[in-house]
Amino acid sequence: MSVLPIVIYDAQVLRQKSADVTADSQWLQTLIDDMFETMYNGSGVGLAAPQIGETIRLFVMDADVMTEDTDEEDLGPLVFINPEITSKSDTQVTIEEGCLSIPGIRDSINRPESVTVKFLDRNFKPREMTVTGWSSRVIQHEIDHLDGVLFIDYLGSFRKRLLKSKLNQVKEGLVEAEYPVAGKSVSA
Ligand code: NI
Repeated sequence: MSVLPIVIYDAQVLRQKSADVTADSQWLQTLIDDMFETMYNGSGVGLAAPQIGETIRLFVMDADVMTEDTDEEDLGPLVFINPEITSKSDTQVTIEEGCLSIPGIRDSINRPESVTVKFLDRNFKPREMTVTGWSSRVIQHEIDHLDGVLFIDYLGSFRKRLLKSKLNQVKEGLVEAEYPVAGKSVSA
């Protein structure tokens, strides 16, 4: 397994709509293993394929570090292939989000509290689960990545203006991440 460089905002690949995964392969299985290693190395709880430069509908998640001290069920490491949200709760909650592709920036984002998601696991077995709390939050954030949407897109214009110079620094590769990154900010 290897740690892959993470693509940093505002690379074009983070803004594309990813394509469905159509077939299993050794390449895909290795990619999944590498994505877990990359996510854990960056102390992330979710990582979507576009963040390592692949525009396919796949993400990995392990939110146990967030859920272990809560009432929420620890789901362990999960692979989501071609995920689709089939229903969302009317109730919304505000939770602070961050993103490995936008180092140094976190902000409070409002989203549905719980969602039902249909997906294939890494063995291409169809699954469906209804989740709330942290898992729901991570799943919504990661599915957005597959549609070229970033959490900062939800910020109001006031917050956006406040964050503008910080975001520009990320864009210019001036914000140092504690993990390997792709693009401008790659250091030898
Ligand atoms: Ni993210």
